Amino acid sequence: MTDTKRIVLSSDHAAIDLRQTIAAHIAKLGWEVVDIGPTTPESTHYPKHGKAAAGRVASGDCRFGIILCGTGQGIMMAANKVAGIRCGVCSDTFSARMIRQHNDANMLSLGVRVLGEGLALDIVDAFLTAEFEGGRHATRVEMIEAPEVALTA
Ligand code: RB5
Repeated sequence: MTDTKRIVLSSDHAAIDLRQTIAAHIAKLGWEVVDIGPTTPESTHYPKHGKAAAGRVASGDCRFGIILCGTGQGIMMAANKVAGIRCGVCSDTFSARMIRQHNDANMLSLGVRVLGEGLALDIVDAFLTAEFEGGRHATRVEMIEAPEVALTA
């Protein structure tokens, strides 16, 4: 994991405009933004964009990732399939703060068909400024990180 203020952004076709607005906002806050697209509005498949962004975080290339689709849900599910990724969908600032403080989330997912621009930017700010609290929460995060198992019974 890198501690540098470098963040990857991605989305599907539905959320290009909001993603670019968020990219500009974050850049003004002093983050180096790695926007991996897409940039054209043809219909595309959110899992590949979610996993591509997740790879940048899991590899340590970027400290955080922000991903978007219509609801934020599908792209979040795809990102969470990448080992080491803890991504939550947030539609309020409290949850955005808490997924950092308690869950040590390294990715945030947003739904462009759920949120207005102002709330989306506030959620981004809450996510980026909150710190992981460690302690008992670290034990729980380690439990999240235990290898995925297929339950048979
Ligand atoms: C695309 O129409 C839509 O399915 C996608 O943006 C997202 O909402 C999926 O979870």
